[in-house]
This record gives sequence, structure tokens and C-alpha cells, in this order.
Amino acid sequence: MQGVTSDSKPGSFMKISFARPSVPKTGVVVVFAAEGPKLGELAGQIDKAAKGQILKAAKAANFTGKKDQTLDVVAPGAGLERVIVMGLGRPEVLGAREIELLGGAIAGTLQAVKAREGIVAALPEVKAVGADEAAALLGSGAGLRVYRFDGYKSKKPDSAAALGAITFQTDDAAKARKAFQAYDAIREGNHLARDLVNEPSNVLFPAAFAARAKALSKAGVIVEVLTPAQMKKLGMGSLLGVAQGSAFEPRLVVMRWNGAAKSEKPVAFIGKGVTFDTGGVSIKPAQGMEDMKGDMAGAACVTGLMLALARRKAKCNVVGAIGLVENAIDGNAQRPGDIVKSMSGQTIAVLNTDAEGRLVLADVLWYVQDRFKPKFMINLATLTGAIMVALGKENAGLFSNNDELAARISAAGIATGEKAWRMPLAPEYDKLIDHDVADMKNIGGRYGGAITAAQFLQRFVNNVPWAHLDVAGTAMDSVKSSINQSWASGWGVRLLNRLVADHYEA
Ligand code: BES
Ligand code: MN
Ligand code: ZN
Repeated sequence: MQGVTSDSKPGSFMKISFARPSVPKTGVVVVFAAEGPKLGELAGQIDKAAKGQILKAAKAANFTGKKDQTLDVVAPGAGLERVIVMGLGRPEVLGAREIELLGGAIAGTLQAVKAREGIVAALPEVKAVGADEAAALLGSGAGLRVYRFDGYKSKKPDSAAALGAITFQTDDAAKARKAFQAYDAIREGNHLARDLVNEPSNVLFPAAFAARAKALSKAGVIVEVLTPAQMKKLGMGSLLGVAQGSAFEPRLVVMRWNGAAKSEKPVAFIGKGVTFDTGGVSIKPAQGMEDMKGDMAGAACVTGLMLALARRKAKCNVVGAIGLVENAIDGNAQRPGDIVKSMSGQTIAVLNTDAEGRLVLADVLWYVQDRFKPKFMINLATLTGAIMVALGKENAGLFSNNDELAARISAAGIATGEKAWRMPLAPEYDKLIDHDVADMKNIGGRYGGAITAAQFLQRFVNNVPWAHLDVAGTAMDSVKSSINQSWASGWGVRLLNRLVADHYEA
């Protein structure tokens, strides 16, 4: 079956550049002030050239340079269109993460005043990172922020009027430019993940998603796409059972990035890719069902991560595998009570067809550990509503059979702001999914729904370090931040990139 085609085109992306400090003669300039206000160097120079207009405006507006305070001075003189002063509070205590968020806030402010270009002063007195790294971090935040998904508007937004370029000033511009390359790669991966999650399900059905993944081969990723016939041969009855009610065929996509020696075991990332989740015969209520176009956010994250790692030429061997299915309803859809046989040989009684993500992941996890013998497996899935009941939308649920891996993920989460909170796994929970006829059932009881889902996944993991991230609350309908204003956050790309960079690169 064919879907409609998207006319969503990747718009020309904002240009981010770095230059040595100088006093601009025209344009929109962003400068900084510490608490006081104590103007930064460029701010002071502009104030002098504009005969004290900046400090006068600060006084009139009660701007004291407190963190997150901004002062917008229009046509202050000296030829400038606008000078935006951002308060830093105490710049000497700003950490890397706060600098990146500040970059997002700067881009947001430039957009809000409809600037087409911006020049940003060097950050004063920052201690946590070097000046060039600070400039690169500002660029990272700005790049993440300016994401748009507007390809479906028939009236095209005037791209000439959009924010098209930001220049960040810093003493060693060449060094900042170099540091920025990795951030730009990560940004590209994050934006790909957001795009995939934002796409509607009539456009991004399994084969269409697979085609988007296949396009990563241009970035040096090796991409294989398995058809239903191949999956059937492998015995993936659990995944195929979910797919059988849909007019769209399922796909299993395996992406590989080989950035290290052949002898190095790969790390593996696995994503739930349910391109739409109606619930199946255990149908979902109408209210909010449209959000289930994002039920492939785990797969989107894995795809975005592979792009980011390939773009920055990560020195690591990485496997990304995504199970792509639609959970639909028709006369051939699987029924509550059906028993399916997974690739592992274990049988599953499908008591609720809406607990489909775990059925998809069961076969993909088994396949990946069997074929690739990875150092670890991390899967991502918008798996349960229950994880939002437990943790809200600020933390993903983290389940793991390995304390070291869990600790590394937690730390990378704090560093990137993509936070994950560890949840328990234990035999007492595991027995809740035993079944009298089949080896297991696909739902637990009324309580601990995110945990019993994780226990289910663990039954398809052997002796390999494994972690499961339940991203139902963080990947879509996400909490807005200075680096993301989109419904789809691209959650996990920055976190997992950081995990790889910190621990698994030669
Ligand atoms: N995709 C949903 C989980 C979900 C719900 C993600 C809301 C994001 C927002 C998943 O397939 C599902 O339906 N889970 C059920 C499991 C239940 C039937 C045991 C749920 O959470 O209700
Ligand atoms: Mn479901
Ligand atoms: Zn689902």
C-alpha cells in the first residue's frame, strides 16, 4: 500500500560561524552582562561608542544582569540596529550545559525580534570550559533551537525573513569551529530524529521509514533492510504478529557504523518503531490517539544517533537495529489470547494487543544479540503510559541488568540534560508475566506497568549488559526548553552520543 508523499523539504539550515572579536558597525548584536550589571567587553565597547545608551537603557528597564534577564535596546546609536544584552548572573559558575542552553536562548531571542542575522559577543569570565569550547557550545544550543517542521504548510514561510546566520565571536575562532563540528553532527542527528517523530503515519509507514534509514548510507552507514519473508524465515513470530493487521508491511532495518578496528565488538542500539499504534483489537480511546504517530520515537532516536556518529566519524563500531511495524486493526489483526512464537523459541500469549512494543522488541533484541554479540545492548521505546505515571515527563525510565552501564547512562543523561531515572527489575516482578498455557503473557497486572514491560524485554536478553529506556514521556509531546520547542524532542540522540564518546571510543 502506498502512502501520500511528503513535500516536507529540509529547509536551508541556519549558518553558524565563528569569528575573532571586533566591534560590529551594523546589525543585531548579542552581548553579555554579569550581575551588577557589569558589561562584558564588547558590551562595554558598544556602550562607549553609543555614548552610554546601553547602561542608560539598563537602568531604565531595571536590568541588573541577573541570569536569564534580557535587555533589548533598539537603535542605540553607533549604527547598530539592535543590541540585546543577556544577563549571566555569575558567569564564573556557568557549566557546559548552561552555556549550551544559553545558546538556545540567544537563538530564540534573535528569532523573537525577527533578526535575520546575529552577531554574538565572546562569553566573559567562563571557567568550566575554554573560551573556544564555550563558543562552540553556544553554537550547539543555537543550532538545536532553530529546528522547524513546516513542510506541510501550503503557504511556505518566507525563508528570506527567517534567522539565517549567527556569528559567535571568540579569540581562537579556528579552534571553536573545529570543536563545533561534532556538535553540528549531533544536532543533525537530533533534528533527523525530531523529523521522523513529527511525520504523520500516512507518510512515515514502515517501508518509508526504512527508505529514510537507507539514505544514511550516504553518510557511510551500512544499511540492510529485512523484508517480512526474511523475518518469517528467522522465526520472528512475535514482531510479525503485531504487523499482520496492517496494510503496510513491516521492516527490520539494521544500520552499522564501523569506526574502529574489525576485531572490536560493536555496541548496539535497538529502537521500537511502531509507525502508528491504534492499540489493535484492544483499541485505544479516540482522545489523543493522534499522538501515536510518535510511537516510533525509539527507532527515530537510533536512526538519528547513527547519523550523528557517522557524521562525526566516531571511533567505535556501532549497530543500530529498528523494528518497524504498524499496529493496526482489520479482519486479519491478531486477537487477544493469540499465542505467538518468538525468534528465541519462547511462546507469548498476547492478552492485550496494545502491549505491542515489547512484542516487536523481543525479536529485535534476540536477533541483535544472536548475530552481533555486542558489548552491550540499549533499547529505546515509547513503551508504556505507566512510565509517565511513575516519572512524569522530565526523566525517561532506565532499566538495566548492569550497574556500570546504568551508571554511565545516568551520568550522560545529567551531562546532556536528557535525564534517565533508574527503575527496578526483580524476580518478584518477573513472575507477574508468567502464563498458564504459554511461556509468558504480554501484560502484567494493574500495578508497575512500566516494570512488567521491562521484565518482558529482559526475557529476551541473555548474558549481555543491557539497558531499556522507556521514553514515552520524554520523546514526544515533550517539555519545551531553550534548545527544543518542537513536539518531538529527538530525546536520546545527545545522551547516547555522549555515552559512546565518554566510554566506547578508542
Ligand atoms: N505506545 C504505547 C505507550 C504510550 C502511551 C506511549 C502513551 C506514549 C504515550 C504502548 O504501546 C501501549 O499502548 N502501552 C500500554 C500497555 C498496556 C496495554 C499494558 C499502555 O501503556 O497503556
Ligand atoms: Mn500500544
Ligand atoms: Zn505502542
